Amino acid sequence: MNIWITGASSGIGESVARLYAEAGHTVFASARNQDALKAMESASNEYAGRIVAAPLDVTDNNSVIDAFEKIKHDKNPLDLVILNAGYYEPVEFADLTLEHFEKTYDVNLRGVVRCLIPVLKYFTEQQHGHIAIVSSVSGFRGLPRAAAYGSSKAALINMAESLKPECNANSIQLSLINPGFVKSKLTEQNKFNMPFIMETEDAAKRIVDGLESTAFELTFPKRFTYWLKLFRILPYWLYFVVTKKLL
Ligand SMILES: NC(=O)c1ccc[n+]([C@@H]2O[C@H](COP(=O)([O-])OP(=O)(O)OC[C@H]3O[C@@H](n4cnc5c(N)ncnc54)[C@H](OP(=O)(O)O)[C@@H]3O)[C@@H](O)[C@H]2O)c1
Repeated sequence: MNIWITGASSGIGESVARLYAEAGHTVFASARNQDALKAMESASNEYAGRIVAAPLDVTDNNSVIDAFEKIKHDKNPLDLVILNAGYYEPVEFADLTLEHFEKTYDVNLRGVVRCLIPVLKYFTEQQHGHIAIVSSVSGFRGLPRAAAYGSSKAALINMAESLKPECNANSIQLSLINPGFVKSKLTEQNKFNMPFIMETEDAAKRIVDGLESTAFELTFPKRFTYWLKLFRILPYWLYFVVTKKLL
């Protein structure tokens, strides 16, 4: 397969890129950190030559279009696209700013859309392709201290649900990935105890294995994420009793 992964310079995206490359696939690895991408590209190990650096900034539409054009030119056809680039910054209630919301939405929501639009057109013309959108369990329901991050991820879940039937009708598989806590630079910032936090490699393996199935949603670890799914059906009065305790 030929695979494009955004947010591949660190964390979950980097691990997923390595796993696919080790399995013999060609991976176009995108992010802003060119040094990290080049290091993956030039690695002389078991996946040597199978990772291609495709730097971009998902907040810059021209940068996304340029990178995607190069990828299409380099290797046809593309089979799988994993839109994983994400941004998270914990901010206290008193420090919330418009800039914080704008930055979060620009990477997590608009950044996905900037990549998604050209990919949908390309896969529609090609009449096949698989797109995976990395959202989060924090998009299931509003959680304290995650107003910007959680709402950006909730928007991705809604967007994926909305697009799924039309993707199917155009022979495009659409998957939604909702991880629980995973060790990465992103979660390093959290000062609280993160239940059932997973190693990055374990999460990457769940993603690679899960994307082999036709399931719409991949969520893990289930012993954590199924509890959060249960929270979705709680009435507000009871839900807020629970979330008040998280403050
Ligand atoms: N870790 C968790 O517990 C967890 C849970 C649920 C969902 N997620 C989601 O999983 C995804 C990966 O996160 P992670 O945990 O692996 O964190 P991470 O190590 O911080 O990875 C984030 C990736 O996104 C890239 N990125 C950020 N801003 C970008 C931009 N403007 N343009 C292009 N790339 C950009 C980063 O690369 P550069 O800085 O080089 O650009 C990096 O490769 C995110 O969407 C995150 O929301 C994570």
